[in-house]
Amino acid sequence: MNDPHTNPAARTVASTQSEMTEIILPNDTNTLGNLLGGRLMHFIDLTGAMAAYRHSRTHVVTAAMDHIDFIRPVHLGDLVTLKSCVNRAFSSSMEVGVKVWAENTRTGEICHVASAYLVFVAIDEHGQPVHVQPVEPQTPDELRRYEGALRRREHREAENARRKAAKQATAALKHPEGS
Ligand SMILES: CC(C)(COP(=O)(O)OP(=O)(O)OC[C@H]1O[C@@H](n2cnc3c(N)ncnc32)[C@H](O)[C@@H]1OP(=O)(O)O)[C@@H](O)C(=O)NCCC(=O)NCCS
Repeated sequence: MNDPHTNPAARTVASTQSEMTEIILPNDTNTLGNLLGGRLMHFIDLTGAMAAYRHSRTHVVTAAMDHIDFIRPVHLGDLVTLKSCVNRAFSSSMEVGVKVWAENTRTGEICHVASAYLVFVAIDEHGQPVHVQPVEPQTPDELRRYEGALRRREHREAENARRKAAKQATAALKHPEGS
């Protein structure tokens, strides 16, 4: 493992932790006054990118956003708080976890409303992937997320390979050789 004491290049998860709070205004909501899912995904992408920037200290792009469950609606006037951190860094990519809470400003009630994992890739000014430093998990929760990130990466790679093979099979059916 990359210990920041023995590998000064390794970064702690805490050094990537990022947070943002937004008040939900009419422009953010649907006709029922609930936060639009796409708007929430935008906030998730932004908060995730902040953690990736803090880890890589270079340009980053979103390569993937995993499945998101919208657990509860968020209402007009609620305060939405998002927290992110880098779970694990690979060669040029970083898995970032984002968790979202909504606060009812009248009652003070706070509920967890969504969570997501995203993959950001560090790039140079020409858009080419560049190497990032490893992450050193320091708490049991950080270690659990670090280990989970490897399993999720393997799952994403298998899913990408499956989709690529299905696309090639469809293309072969549409354009059989010699036709
Ligand atoms: C992300 C991007 C830089 C990857 O470039 P690439 O030429 O495919 O690079 P590589 O195949 O060498 O992969 C680089 C890294 O990206 C990761 N990656 C690429 N596609 C991915 C995907 N769909 N999901 C997760 N990770 C992905 C690879 O696993 C690799 O990680 P590693 O270096 O840690 O092993 C490129 O696809 C891109 O610029 N995409 C558009 C990004 C963008 O515009 N995002 C905004 C969304 S609208």
